Amino acid sequence: MSNQSDQSLLKDGWLPGVKSVGFGGDYNPEQWPEEVWAEDLDLMRRAGVNLVSIGIFSWALLEPRPGEFDFGWLDRVIEGLHGAGVRVDLGTPTTVPPAWFWQQNPHVRPVLRDGTVLATGSRGICCPSSPEYAEASVRITTELAKRYGNHPAVSLWHVHNEYGAPISECYCEVSAASFREWLKARYGTLDALNAAWGTAFWGQTYYEWTQVGTPALSGTSSNPAHRLDFARFSNEELIGCFTRERDVLHELAPGIPVTTNFMATNCPSMDLWKWSAEVDVVANDHYLTAADPLSQVGLALDADLTRSLAGGRPWILMEHSSSAVNWQPRNLAKRPGEMARNSLSHLARGADAILFFQWRASRRGAEKFHSAMLPHAGANSRVFGEITQLGATLGDLDAVLGSRVRAQAAILWDWESFWAQDLDWRPSVDLAPRQQVREYYERLWRDHVTVDFAHPTADLSGYPVVLAPASYLLTAEAVANLTAYVEGGGHLVVGPFSGVVDQDDAVHPGGWNGAVRDLLQVSVEEVLPLPAEGQVALTGDLKGRIWAEDLQLLGAETILEYLDGPATGRAAVTRRTLGAGTATYVSTVLDHQVLGAVLDPVLERAGVTVDRDLPWDLELVSRHAEDGTEYVFAINHATTPVDLRVDGTDLLTGETCAGSAKIPAGSVRIFRR
Ligand code: GAL
Repeated sequence: MSNQSDQSLLKDGWLPGVKSVGFGGDYNPEQWPEEVWAEDLDLMRRAGVNLVSIGIFSWALLEPRPGEFDFGWLDRVIEGLHGAGVRVDLGTPTTVPPAWFWQQNPHVRPVLRDGTVLATGSRGICCPSSPEYAEASVRITTELAKRYGNHPAVSLWHVHNEYGAPISECYCEVSAASFREWLKARYGTLDALNAAWGTAFWGQTYYEWTQVGTPALSGTSSNPAHRLDFARFSNEELIGCFTRERDVLHELAPGIPVTTNFMATNCPSMDLWKWSAEVDVVANDHYLTAADPLSQVGLALDADLTRSLAGGRPWILMEHSSSAVNWQPRNLAKRPGEMARNSLSHLARGADAILFFQWRASRRGAEKFHSAMLPHAGANSRVFGEITQLGATLGDLDAVLGSRVRAQAAILWDWESFWAQDLDWRPSVDLAPRQQVREYYERLWRDHVTVDFAHPTADLSGYPVVLAPASYLLTAEAVANLTAYVEGGGHLVVGPFSGVVDQDDAVHPGGWNGAVRDLLQVSVEEVLPLPAEGQVALTGDLKGRIWAEDLQLLGAETILEYLDGPATGRAAVTRRTLGAGTATYVSTVLDHQVLGAVLDPVLERAGVTVDRDLPWDLELVSRHAEDGTEYVFAINHATTPVDLRVDGTDLLTGETCAGSAKIPAGSVRIFRR
């Protein structure tokens, strides 16, 4: 059964009963005496909260003994919220089975690649292939759906929590048996499996299906195709856990959309292109990386990726933090204004709900040092003041609901390719695909160019420019798609070590870039990783890092040359023209500081304007409504004010701006035009 996102559920563009921008967070009242609940509702009203996620970790309270249910407390929580006009995102609590479940089924604890069997006592661990887990999770989900599926307060189902985190793979015997079934469905015969996995290498040929196991830790590097398939299998096994619950909810509670919270950039083991096809509405969790001095760029990338997963439709920021998290090495508190900038950046990039983890800071447990909307310091605090202010701001932004972001470029993003490249024994540990993507993204972020992310086989025809900073794995279908894109007049830029392998991690025939050689009209004869911290000088006073290549030109022209290093005198950046389209190849790692030298001419040819008069740290994004109205979000990350050339009405103050407007340091203004 597929998702319902294009059908009736979201035909009004948003969640049932949610008429404004969603605002709220995870609410865990079960951690508090009931006397506190009334104060929660009172403060939620003050803050303008209209949507909370509940019950996510409550299985042990809802089903204290197998098949024995206690919904009394949850009834009271939901009634209270309903009375206060707060909509409910109801969790299925299947991320933490109760203690009785583990006592009965100790074998369901996941086995890690190195054979370690995990202990219980935390969360998010369970063998995804376990029939006992399947049965128990369907039972509690069924009871919840029967009890609350018609409740007028419920707007959304929140299945599980962050599938894939902290554990996405299990190497136990039950998983191995399930993996074999998956392989039979994929390959049909052992001969096909042996061919795809290249088992002739190192004498790994299989003659019986029962000989095939999981790619558990071995003495040295395991078969990469085996590992890649296991990553695919594990992703699909977890999707199966989700769809099993989703189908129960669709059947018993029709009309209420079902989601689960993704981590677009923080859970590398989940292929979210596959997941997004299964949810009714995309929801995402994002936390700033404190160690990143430009964490707002990482946030924007994550939000743009989430919007792309949602196919441009409105999405939910299911979790972010009001201030510090508690799980990074150094948990930096957000400074005044930062939380609002973060929230409105997500909104600017397509989120129609801004939610937090969590409503009230926990006194006990592993997350007591995590910030909350209502912090330990209580309502009389800066954080709660800013939360209340944000609630008021979002309350004035109903007009923005449902409007869409228009991107001028796409960046290719493929989890399978990252999985393959992340396996061991690659030419250089320094060549990090996600970091390459970040450099290209950051260049465009600083240039105020809005981007989508796309799978290499997606329809790219609407984008004037497509960047493929790190496309190590490309299938024949993807290459045909990219070729058609350039033939159709598109402008493609490809980064180093791309088009190297196929879906089985087998090198494409015809050089190191066999898959894209004809498209780029350049052949990579040899890859030339640099020593640690190594650099190469290029013409144009540029530096490349990490990597160089010996390129053989097959018709492409040289744009930049290597001036030193292992490929001295040879082409470093090339371009070939195909009708109105171009394909540029960049054979070294260029950081965002220098990427403009390569990207500017491409953007110019493609008709994408780069406004370098604007300060780079003014984030500028627009949302467009169906009636032609544009909402311009100007987010000033700098410590000095900026004069922005803009005509329009300030959505929050009502002020009319003709020609220019001041964006104070650290603040956000939204203009309608
Ligand atoms: C998320 C998780 C939440 C909470 C939060 C803290 O990954 O879904 O339950 O733990 O992190 O940052």
